[in-house]
Amino acid sequence: MMNARLLLTGLALFGALIMGSDQGRAQQLHLDPAKVMGPDACGECHKSSIEFWKGSHHFSTFKALPRKKEARSIADKMGLKRIKAGSDCLSCHFTSAMVKGKVKPIAGITCESCHGAGRDWIKVHSDFGGKDVKAENETAAHKAERYAKSEAAGMIRPSKLYKVAQNCYSCHTVPNEKLVNKGGHAAGSKFELVAWSQGEVRHNVWYSKKNQVSPIARLRMMYLVGRALDLEYALRGVAKATKKADYAVKMAKRAKKARKRIKAIAKLIEAPELMAMYKAAKAAKLKLNNEAKLTAAADTVARHAQAMADKYDGSTFAGLDPVLPKPKKYKRKK
Ligand code: HEC
Ligand code: HEC
Ligand code: HEC
Ligand code: HEC
Repeated sequence: MMNARLLLTGLALFGALIMGSDQGRAQQLHLDPAKVMGPDACGECHKSSIEFWKGSHHFSTFKALPRKKEARSIADKMGLKRIKAGSDCLSCHFTSAMVKGKVKPIAGITCESCHGAGRDWIKVHSDFGGKDVKAENETAAHKAERYAKSEAAGMIRPSKLYKVAQNCYSCHTVPNEKLVNKGGHAAGSKFELVAWSQGEVRHNVWYSKKNQVSPIARLRMMYLVGRALDLEYALRGVAKATKKADYAVKMAKRAKKARKRIKAIAKLIEAPELMAMYKAAKAAKLKLNNEAKLTAAADTVARHAQAMADKYDGSTFAGLDPVLPKPKKYKRKK
């Protein structure tokens, strides 16, 4: 049974409820399965993106995860029989779609996990104005309209850095108290957007074929917006903490560190949003059962992060270059 509602928390997670899971418990998926097209549909045109994606953990987790001892042990502690059947693992490790009227995991973390479920925009985003019109002949007005329509239909374009990166943090901070405390799952990744996006995840193969590292100004913006998102999602994580245990301790540590980093970055570049973010975060106590205040602080951080992503292009932020991760730190598949 499907029953869709949007979360009020500002999380990028889509609030699709699946009932009748192993325990009959409700849980959230990252995308609305009714709108998911699956990676094969994207691959019809984006063949080389698919090739790069196949070399990532996002692809391999689909088959590899259920076979891992560590995964079995987490599932046992959570009381889950099958990792892929209506379990708490689906929201982050898998993409689900409707298959013969039922919600089913069809792949790992896919194109749509980051670019939005495609059903309502897949046609419009690639239509330059009729069958015979090529990209170079598209009018400026048509292009603007195409992008606007695609985004209104749920497409997350790479140029919308805050939105596309929000996805990463909604999974990689692991904001699930029970999964961490009871299941013994890692309390999030040591995630930094430049290092984590420029290794195995990189697929800059559409506008040029070479899969080059993103330009320096873009890397600076990724670093900046990524650090802001880390603070935002750490605050959201602490907001969910109800017990003095591993989850609460680690999330609070994450938030403290993220806050400090924002203050340090504020000294490197000219961007008043940074201290505004820091102050908003500092005003909310990192303690248990403080959801309203912490969520409000996270919302303020989000507003400033989004504003920075819209306002700056990174060209004047050379002050960040010494702190950008070096290429040998880029996360590659091992
Ligand atoms: C029918 C062919 C086709 C299919 C199918 C297709 N795309 Fe595209 N895609 C294109 C074309 C053409 C462009 C270039 C658009 C442009 O130049 O603005 C594009 C551009 C993109 C972009 C970059 C947009 C930007 O703002 O620069 C993303 C992201 C993308 N597609 C994702 C996807 C995903 C995810 C799917 C599957 C759900 C998909 N595409 C399916 C043809 C397709
Ligand atoms: C909120 C998102 C989220 C949920 C829900 C989740 N995971 Fe994870 N999991 C992650 C992330 C992110 C990583 C990657 C951690 C890293 O490498 O930094 C991960 C890593 C793992 C790993 C180690 C991966 C490896 O390749 O060795 C295992 C095992 C695992 N998860 C099992 C599970 C199981 C079993 C469930 C369901 C009970 C589950 N996870 C639910 C986000 C999640
Ligand atoms: C983990 C999240 C993630 C996944 C999975 C993902 N993308 Fe992307 N995609 C991004 C990000 C982030 C960018 C912008 C990268 C940058 O600016 O360096 C991007 C950029 C793009 C672009 C523009 C590339 C260019 O040449 O500039 C296209 C097209 C695209 N993605 C399509 C796809 C398709 C098709 C898939 C599935 C095979 C896919 N993406 C999977 C996050 C993702
Ligand atoms: C839907 C949830 C989800 C989203 C969105 C997501 N990830 Fe992941 N990511 C995971 C999980 C789960 C794993 C661990 C997979 C495994 O090994 O089992 C992972 C693994 C990775 C890895 C490999 C880590 C390692 O240990 O080597 C990288 C790199 C990565 N993600 C980067 C990104 C980036 C960059 C983005 C955003 C542009 C992103 N991810 C978005 C869930 C997600």
